Amino acid sequence: MNQATLEKQKEYAKTAASHAYNRYSNFAVGAALSLKDGRLIPGCNVENASYGLTNCAERTAIYAAIAQGIKPEQFAAMTIYMPGDKLYSPCGACRQVIAEFFPANAKVHATCDAEHTQSWRVDELLPGLFSLP
Ligand code: THU
Repeated sequence: MNQATLEKQKEYAKTAASHAYNRYSNFAVGAALSLKDGRLIPGCNVENASYGLTNCAERTAIYAAIAQGIKPEQFAAMTIYMPGDKLYSPCGACRQVIAEFFPANAKVHATCDAEHTQSWRVDELLPGLFSLP
């Protein structure tokens, strides 16, 4: 993915983060799920008073895409935005869900408020994933 495309996806994910329901952590996460046709699907974290029920931005984007009738075959990449100057990687639960829907060689890109970014292949994020035959 070129720099301009990544920058566009970062801005999209950052806007999605502004929609976060994050009253417990006050940490706003956004995701931009990119499709092969260039469309972007937004996701943000949605928290709950029963903390374990919180849904991360990455999973929100994936589930929203599926609910819209978009097939996983159309999924291209995922860009996440987390606030601050530090880069974070997706949580373990999101890695399993990302691995369910994306090919092993698809890319996940982490962005933040600083310039730097980090990218992983899906199979780098979750080697030896659980999958049923
Ligand atoms: N969070 C995400 O949305 N994605 C991740 O990959 C890690 C964490 C959210 C969950 C919670 O609402 C907040 O960040 C703090 O953990």
